[in-house]
Amino acid sequence: MKSRYHDIYAGWKSDPEGFWAKAAGDIDWTKPWDEVFQKVDGLDRWFVGAECNTCWNCVDRHVEAGRGDQAAIIYDSPITGAKRTYSYSELQEEVACFAQVLTDKGAARGDRVIIYMPMVPEAAIAMLACARLGVIHSVVFGGFAAAELATRINDCDPKLIVSSSCGIEPGRVIAYKPLLDEAIELAKAKPAGTIVLQREQATADMKAGYDHDWQTEVDAVRAAGRGADCVPVKATDPLYILYTSGTTGQPKGVVRDNGGHMVALKWSMSAMYGVEPGEVYWAASDVGWVVGHSYIVYAPLLHGCTTILFEGKPVGTPDAGTFWRVISEHKAVCLFTAPTAFRAIKKEDPKGEFIGKYDLSHFRTLFLAGERADPDTIEWAQQVLQVPVIDHWWQTETGWTIAGNPVGLGTLPVKLGSPAVPMPGYDIQVLDEGGHEVARGELGAVCVKLPLPPSCLPTLWNADERFRDSYLTAYPGYYETSDAGYMDDDGYLYIMARTDDIINVAGHRLSTGGMEEVLASHSDVAECAVVGVADKLKGQLPIGFVVLKSGVNKKPEEVESECVKLVREKIGAVAALRTVMVVSRLPKTRSGKILRATVRSIADGSDWKMPATIDDPAILDELTAAMTARSVGSL
Ligand code: COA
Ligand code: AMP
Repeated sequence: MKSRYHDIYAGWKSDPEGFWAKAAGDIDWTKPWDEVFQKVDGLDRWFVGAECNTCWNCVDRHVEAGRGDQAAIIYDSPITGAKRTYSYSELQEEVACFAQVLTDKGAARGDRVIIYMPMVPEAAIAMLACARLGVIHSVVFGGFAAAELATRINDCDPKLIVSSSCGIEPGRVIAYKPLLDEAIELAKAKPAGTIVLQREQATADMKAGYDHDWQTEVDAVRAAGRGADCVPVKATDPLYILYTSGTTGQPKGVVRDNGGHMVALKWSMSAMYGVEPGEVYWAASDVGWVVGHSYIVYAPLLHGCTTILFEGKPVGTPDAGTFWRVISEHKAVCLFTAPTAFRAIKKEDPKGEFIGKYDLSHFRTLFLAGERADPDTIEWAQQVLQVPVIDHWWQTETGWTIAGNPVGLGTLPVKLGSPAVPMPGYDIQVLDEGGHEVARGELGAVCVKLPLPPSCLPTLWNADERFRDSYLTAYPGYYETSDAGYMDDDGYLYIMARTDDIINVAGHRLSTGGMEEVLASHSDVAECAVVGVADKLKGQLPIGFVVLKSGVNKKPEEVESECVKLVREKIGAVAALRTVMVVSRLPKTRSGKILRATVRSIADGSDWKMPATIDDPAILDELTAAMTARSVGSL
């Protein structure tokens, strides 16, 4: 089939508002918009004046349309052995009951509720219940420590926190409640109470009158025959805040609106993923990340699909065949995951022998995102799965694909190493430092000409100025993605690296600046640097370098392990900082800037040039010797 992509993209370019108005026809609105697009208080807003409810469009609408008996969520947890299916009707009831519980505990439209939960269906139910009430949720990934949770509590000042007694990682149960209690203790903003789902693997201690038991509350509401209805909200009202790493330890609160988000996500389901309502869609991510928000919860449900909520790992739960078992058992038509998951599977099962044990006849497409998909991984996946492997590029800030290969419009030829072409809505230009477009094939800053399409962040939570400074200032008239890359003569984009302090570890976005703040807080550390070095499994791994204050008599190993522990305590295990090295000095420019990029290139074994502005070149030799002794990166 000839791809319709080029015609559709050209159609969007000639009439962007008409394009999105047409797409908006697939959503139920309680009040139509006055303007498809308008600047409001200096911010770009979509579907201004319209009213809608995201939960209605994800759940109730499908029950009304006759999908009540169809599975909405399949929870499959190889880590606990649990499985459960919720039909759309059951989901409607659960969500309405939990929304009633939230209401009874005082949460109302415009309030914030933090959801700090593992991959259990109640996490999705809590998100949808918030959406039902116009309450703004903020899901915090379970791998973050108490201090990170506290930062988010302070920033969004939640009315309530919904949590669980524990999360489960291979070989260990992580009790969430002590982390939650510590975070509330640390935070200046104090929520009015918590609602905690008790899981059998660990029981949380509850404070009477403050901590409420999920099941008891829901049972009481159900027994009384109560349940909250959908509350119409403005299309431009926030649906959620999702914190993501910025260049400092203070995360950015990405705001997602209700209307534009639904329109873009619904459109993406058929155009980008080529999936029909009623089919089974699987994103193996976590509800704590943007992929989990968009493609475990909202988009598949908006589209009337069945979504799989998987609590497990690509390997070890119980083996490298888990993904194929889930696809086969639930008849998933596609899988969306991070390349790192495939690298983990390939390491355990290089010949893909587990695949032969399962019937994958329903499976059509593998989608990869979250980090650069290296050609080796794509080729391996293509060969063992015998389906198209589609890389696509996006960010927490956008909530959906910026560049991809639109399977539903007719797949374009796959070029290894490229996430393919801009989606309608995105006029991508690669710019030089002066803001001029570079020639095709030349590396530059990948930017999107404003306005951004529906679903993209209108601003950061309570931080319009930071939003402008972070994204709109460096290249006036453009959104700066902070990714560097190039476009080839066919208009295919290649995303090569971040231009800021963000690193990508196992598909998780982390800030080296944030880790440096933690290392610098160690009482023996005078100065420090954290760089992300290439790693065969996780894509990148952070490595820390610390210079000790004069007069510190401890053994270097002692400070090193204290530093590792400190980052784990303050940021969380997910930071995956396992190597910290005490060095006598750090390489700097004459003006005192630490040469992090040079250190990274040395560790990666990539080509590097001696920076002309370096203060003392001998320091690089010292550092190379120290890294070689520890087998850092490729050394
Ligand atoms: N709650 C608590 N701890 C968590 C956690 C969670 N939800 N997720 C990860 N962690 C912990 C891990 O247990 C690990 O702890 P450890 O240092 O004690 O071993 C640490 O954080 C680092 O985790 P990770 O980097 O994920 O490494 P891993 O070895 O546990 O797993 C992979 C490696 C590749 C299997 C795993 O990262 C993976 O499946 N990645 C896919 C990523 C993904 O889905 N990204 C979303 C974008 S699509
Ligand atoms: P996150 O906000 O966690 O989704 O991370 C976004 C960042 O991950 C992007 O800015 C890129 O640096 C990287 N990224 C995501 N998807 C891809 C991809 N397909 N190819 C290359 N980099 C990617």
